[in-house]
Amino acid sequence: MSGKDVSGHVVLKTPAKLNLCLRILGLRADGYHELITWMQQISLYDEVRIEPGGKRILVYADRDDVPGGRENIVHRAARALREASGRKGLGARIYLKKNIPAGGGLGGGSGNAAGALWALNRVWSLGMRKAELCDVAARVGSDVPFFLRGPAAVCRGRGERVEAKEALKSGWFLLVKPPVALSTQEVYGWSRQKLGREGQDYEGKNGPARLGRYEYGNDLEEIVFPRFPELESLCGMLVRHGAARAMMSGSGSTVFGIFRRKGEAERAAIRIRKSEKGKKCECFLAAPLQEMCFQ
Ligand code: C5P
Repeated sequence: MSGKDVSGHVVLKTPAKLNLCLRILGLRADGYHELITWMQQISLYDEVRIEPGGKRILVYADRDDVPGGRENIVHRAARALREASGRKGLGARIYLKKNIPAGGGLGGGSGNAAGALWALNRVWSLGMRKAELCDVAARVGSDVPFFLRGPAAVCRGRGERVEAKEALKSGWFLLVKPPVALSTQEVYGWSRQKLGREGQDYEGKNGPARLGRYEYGNDLEEIVFPRFPELESLCGMLVRHGAARAMMSGSGSTVFGIFRRKGEAERAAIRIRKSEKGKKCECFLAAPLQEMCFQ
């Protein structure tokens, strides 16, 4: 999944993820949501190019809706790694070629950050083990450790406790990203208000939470759909066009349908793109990944 060219630059593809199931167990004392979520990496990728050298970390993104510089999660990841290594003078230029939409609940930024951690560990010759990288990753963002493991996992806690799970062996996903970007922080904020009212604190007294073997669903839909009803109607459209099921990924705004065959997903994509609601959306076809990305 990565190539090191003669100049010592590394180029890697970092995938998107879908949450096939996301259950909110309650609010934690630290303000985060205690979750259990089944995630699967998919064949929709960004490209991350790393050029080690210099004393500074510089991050460039090729899209206006993705910040460059210190605000980018990849910059935070590189700084966190440098700090954990205790080697202050390390630098790199990092270029992001974005295909995964931002604000879509697809983990594009988290995947970029995980890829950068993995590659910088190599090009900076830090020799950190996977477990150490995962500790750094968990400080950068709740979904980042998942991308260092994968390609499928059940994640607990904030999402940072990753238990690898068998990847889906077949099926195709049709992703539909409406022209609205949702901030994870904002969506969880709406959920926090609701949970606060209902008083669902998380105590974790009943032992580790479990998911059924093929349990699908997303508890954040009931927070997001009333505010953005078009997402629910896009799910309805996916099912009408043959999806076995359709749901939202993570905190949205992307919804996706699961199809048995590629041809069925392609036909649905054509119809959805032609429809009034669908023509404003971006559509992507993707398959579940079978292999860990960074190794
Ligand atoms: O961990 P990450 O930086 O990706 O989280 C973004 C925001 O989403 C957090 O600031 C928090 O408000 C919210 N969040 C949460 N519970 C989680 C994960 C994220 O409340 N399990």
